Amino acid sequence: MYKLNGVMYSAEEIKSKVVELAKQIEKDYEGQELLVVGILKGASVFCADLIREINLDVNMDFMSVSSYGTSTSSSGTVKIIKDLDVDIENKNVLIVEDIIDSGLTLSSLVETLKTRRPKSLKLCTLLDKPQRRTSNITVDYVGFVIEDKFIVGYGIDYAEKYRNLPYIGIVEDI
Ligand code: IMP
Ligand code: MG
Repeated sequence: MYKLNGVMYSAEEIKSKVVELAKQIEKDYEGQELLVVGILKGASVFCADLIREINLDVNMDFMSVSSYGTSTSSSGTVKIIKDLDVDIENKNVLIVEDIIDSGLTLSSLVETLKTRRPKSLKLCTLLDKPQRRTSNITVDYVGFVIEDKFIVGYGIDYAEKYRNLPYIGIVEDI
């Protein structure tokens, strides 16, 4: 059995972190166009809030990826379920993720997208769980660094539930 057990970040705390990240992004890409790529489904809520705080020429696209198995996968390659609609060659691409855990999803995705020759490729995540990292990736924009707890809400699910919570909560076994 599992149960929602406590709030990790309130809607207000998330909002101010999103604004802080957006202002940094705005500064870094000043005078340039930016393609924000949200990773479905978890990053959809974050992505929608983030782009509304970035005062630049922004385009948005989404990708959906899935890990090949879990325990059986040693390669860490991800399967693309939904690819980008646009060509990213010579564009500034910012991948937006909900949470980075082992890092396998993003490192595989970065390798794939690099072959398409974007002008630049950076990563942004709302949450980072560095304790469980197995792949060596650099994340350019990190919202909150958290302990190894299972969290939900603000787009992030447990078995497809809790995506609609306006805050980030903790799920625990009971
Ligand atoms: P990674 O490849 O191990 O970095 O996996 C990251 C993905 O695992 C995230 O995009 C989430 O979909 C999922 N994930 C990792 N930690 C959590 C969590 O605490 N709650 C919900 N999903 C999580
Ligand atoms: Mg995800």
